[in-house]
Amino acid sequence: MKMFVVFVILLHVSQHALAVVVEVNEGERSVLLPCLFSGPIPEDNATVMWNRSDLHPKSVHLRRAGGDDLRGQNQRYKERTSMNRYAFITKDFSLTLRKPTKTDSGNYTCSISNGRQERPLRDIQLKVKDQQVEVKVREGSHSVILPCKTTPDLPEDTTVEWTRSDLGLMTVHVYANGNDNLMTQDEVYRDRTKMNEDLLRTGDLSLTLKQPTVRDSGGYICTIYRDKDILTQKVVLQVKEPFPSWAKAVLVLLVVLGVSGGLLFYFRHYFMSGECLLLHYP
Ligand SMILES: *[C@@H]1O[C@H](CO)[C@@H](O)[C@H](O)[C@H]1NC(C)=O
Ligand SMILES: *[C@@H]1O[C@H](CO)[C@@H](O)[C@H](O)[C@H]1NC(C)=O
Ligand SMILES: *[C@@H]1O[C@H](CO)[C@@H](O)[C@H](O)[C@H]1NC(C)=O
Repeated sequence: MKMFVVFVILLHVSQHALAVVVEVNEGERSVLLPCLFSGPIPEDNATVMWNRSDLHPKSVHLRRAGGDDLRGQNQRYKERTSMNRYAFITKDFSLTLRKPTKTDSGNYTCSISNGRQERPLRDIQLKVKDQQVEVKVREGSHSVILPCKTTPDLPEDTTVEWTRSDLGLMTVHVYANGNDNLMTQDEVYRDRTKMNEDLLRTGDLSLTLKQPTVRDSGGYICTIYRDKDILTQKVVLQVKEPFPSWAKAVLVLLVVLGVSGGLLFYFRHYFMSGECLLLHYP
């Protein structure tokens, strides 16, 4: 009996130590709270619950074998949550939370129950950030750096994905298994992206984008898969029109006018004395 209690406590502690961190920026379309299960699904009254411990009521989403049961759902999650239709078949109970805001930050628990006993599957610490990085550059520049930084000494199996947040799932750059993996890279970005060497050690996952054009303007998401954590950072890039040719023309004109004005001023005595000469010899 004592052994059993110790075991349960250890299990409890380790589950909390393994809380997965999910980071996202406010204003994103949605965020995924992962919860995969590998055990047997209870045959009767199987229920999967997503709760947030600091709220009353606690329930964020509840799924029974027959479908969602949102009668007890906390109203701040109304019409913002969904789970895969076939979750009980695929055993993927990940929750999609739409339009995350800062107040959604908190600790979520995914658990499965047979109506009598509950089994916690996953603790998630969700952090919704309200700041995003903005970068401005002018077209014609050699390159621009989209910053993304996290903790140093990342595990070797860390994956980093740079994607466009506004253009569907367009892939800009992927780093996986210790290498660049550009199989899925969109051709718009071919040969134009670069990440730092030694990025796992430094945690500096910034992306260098060469020859930025106005069409590169938009939102970029840096997603870091670190152990089970999913950390995202958003960078908004604004590439301004190249220096327009009419502006160059005006600038040249101003310089020419300035120089000739200066010359006129410098030689004004010459012109004035010329007039005097003309007066003396009509
Ligand atoms: C399932 O729920 C129903 C209704 O609440 C109950 O009558 C039944 O005993 C439950 N079955 C099990 C196996 O707990
Ligand atoms: C989740 O919330 C439901 C409904 O409030 C409650 O019955 C259940 O015990 C909670 N589970 C956990 C793990 O907090
Ligand atoms: C969530 O859990 C973390 C550690 O697991 C803790 O530091 C934090 O205070 C918790 N937040 C809330 C809102 O309970």
